[in-house]
Amino acid sequence: MGVRFDVITLFPELFGPFQQVGVTRRAFESAQVDVRLWPLRDHAEGVYRRVDDRPFGGGPGMVMLVEPLERCLSAIRADQVAQGAARSPVIWFSPAGPRLTQKRVQQLAASPGAVLVCGRYEGVDQRFIDAHVDEEISLGDYVLSGGELPALTLIDAVTRLQPGVLHDAASHEQDSFSDGLLDCPHYSRPEVLAAPSAQVDLPARAVPAVLMSGHHAQIARWRREQQLALTARRRPDLIEAARARGELSKKDEDFLSRLPL
Ligand SMILES: C[S@@+](CC[C@H](N)C(=O)[O-])C[C@H]1O[C@@H](n2cnc3c(N)ncnc32)[C@H](O)[C@@H]1O
Repeated sequence: MGVRFDVITLFPELFGPFQQVGVTRRAFESAQVDVRLWPLRDHAEGVYRRVDDRPFGGGPGMVMLVEPLERCLSAIRADQVAQGAARSPVIWFSPAGPRLTQKRVQQLAASPGAVLVCGRYEGVDQRFIDAHVDEEISLGDYVLSGGELPALTLIDAVTRLQPGVLHDAASHEQDSFSDGLLDCPHYSRPEVLAAPSAQVDLPARAVPAVLMSGHHAQIARWRREQQLALTARRRPDLIEAARARGELSKKDEDFLSRLPL
């Protein structure tokens, strides 16, 4: 069984093109990751199929109505039962939630999936959140127009962890955050890069010699040290967390102690 995402959205058309490109395409085609779109307006009533209204107490903007959301969620639950799928948790995207992490992505990648609720306008009537939402997730400290980009972000991050999606299984194991550190730099051909034109004053740029040495242990050590140096400079909090988890070896600590402050 793959991972199933039920997405409640006012803009289902945003999800189609995304599923047709890149390494993740086959996972969607084979339903290894099964994305089911639930257009919220299909669950609205009346001639105008309203999904939003003015906030009580006044103020700008509109609020998404509880009733269409509850009808939509009931339809999802009925479909999950009919398909023999697990009753998955409801995730609400909101700047107020804890930030999405690779650890949470890994957990979701190994789970049956989730119902993803994409907000628009000022957000959703709090009574829907109180009654139905199991988890809130934020993408970061900024405000987007809707929850569709956070939903696509989560789906993409989960999909690339599915077996067979990346040609080389080791590829995501060396990604940033997978082992708690940032990724090391990468190089490819040519071995020595000339300046792009005579007008550009750039020296010839060679790939670090160790990467051309064929010495696997030295290459692995060089990469680890590059990871440690970059993480110590940019995200010292991640070094502290790795240390607290006991994931830094004596060699790592020696290397870190020699880094210029
Ligand atoms: C215009 S925003 C509403 C922002 C809300 N009034 C606030 O200040 O927190 C509309 C919707 O986009 C989504 N959204 C916006 N920024 C987000 C973020 N940083 N992380 C996750 N979801 C976000 C949420 O679903 C939100 O309800």
